[in-house]
Amino acid sequence: MNKKTIEDINVSGKRVLVRCDFNVPLDGKKITDETRIVAALPTIEYLLKQNAAVILCSHLGRPKGEFNMKYSLAPVAQRLSEKLDKKVVFTNDVIGEDAKAKIAAMQPGDVVLLENLRFHAEEEKNDPEFAKALASFADIFVNDAFGTAHRAHASTEGVTHYLPAVAGYLIGKELDIMGKALENPARPFVAVLGGSKVGDKIGVISNLLEKVDTLIIGGGMSYTFQVALGGHIGKSLFQADYVDFAKEMIEKAKKLNVRLVLPVDNVCGQEFSNDTMRITVHSKEIPDGWEGMDIGPQTQALFSAEIAHAKTVVWNGPMGVFEFPSFAVGTRSIAQALADNKSCISIIGGGDSAAAVEQMGYGKLMTHISTGGGASLEFLEGKTLPGVAALNDKE
Ligand code: 3PG
Repeated sequence: MNKKTIEDINVSGKRVLVRCDFNVPLDGKKITDETRIVAALPTIEYLLKQNAAVILCSHLGRPKGEFNMKYSLAPVAQRLSEKLDKKVVFTNDVIGEDAKAKIAAMQPGDVVLLENLRFHAEEEKNDPEFAKALASFADIFVNDAFGTAHRAHASTEGVTHYLPAVAGYLIGKELDIMGKALENPARPFVAVLGGSKVGDKIGVISNLLEKVDTLIIGGGMSYTFQVALGGHIGKSLFQADYVDFAKEMIEKAKKLNVRLVLPVDNVCGQEFSNDTMRITVHSKEIPDGWEGMDIGPQTQALFSAEIAHAKTVVWNGPMGVFEFPSFAVGTRSIAQALADNKSCISIIGGGDSAAAVEQMGYGKLMTHISTGGGASLEFLEGKTLPGVAALNDKE
């Protein structure tokens, strides 16, 4: 990464504004997955060790520019306090009197967390006055919100116009691991793509075809590829608008000498439910009235064999409806194949695949699970992330 990091700037005794991604899942006020909080700790702990005063900010959910206590970051302040074993002062507003007073009272080594940035519509509009108000709290800006790096918002992009702006450890780590996989991977390099819609993955399929040795496509989007190859898919998920794209990608793979591996059998259900009747059939011969909901046993073996001899694997998107235990077997088989291949670098894109891997207990066995869903997808598409692009270049 050619961007300055917190180690390239003197933060000692300074006020440092840190953009984190504390967009954590909540059940009422209870945090149900603290991964993003834990991932932010190395940067915060480093700054505290350097005797900086740390002002944290983040969004949570999509409150549409209005104060809504359902989306308050108060539970995050509480959890952070426990993790850091020190008081985290929480402000009841973002740039208002409460924030101003609590920040004015800060001493080196103190931590403040501002209320949800998205309680102001100006945040997502990247409003310069809002960015300026945030910047006025600090001497230095650190972006460590990898999960939000694909958004050009006031707290990710706008603020960099008013303060020295550097990357935190989490952004550094994410870009380092994923960047290396894309630019200089240990080979064979295999990508496993799943998820429901081809339309959401056009960029990533096209970009990864230019990088990988093998591209495996499973999940809901595989059915559009089967139609492109003349298959019959019953009532499986299908995007007619993308059949031509699928054909184009099949040709592109041939031209680039990339092995494009599709399912050969699928587990199908009659209804979209866990307890529906199930049959396993050839992927190109799904009967009318049946819907492909997982990859079948032959496909699991086929995909696992590809993963077994890979040196780098990037995985984004589940192989089936993993939320239903009856259709989670295929997704689990990919996690198991990755866990079994001890000599491979395994990178899991955020979002659903990260949730699946964690939920199935494979989290610790992967090399890297990205904390960004949309952000990791855009990175794998080869797009520039505005939150990173805006940071100061290394001299
Ligand atoms: C995420 O969860 O992917 C990030 O926090 C970004 O959230 P957003 O999609 O609401 O911008």
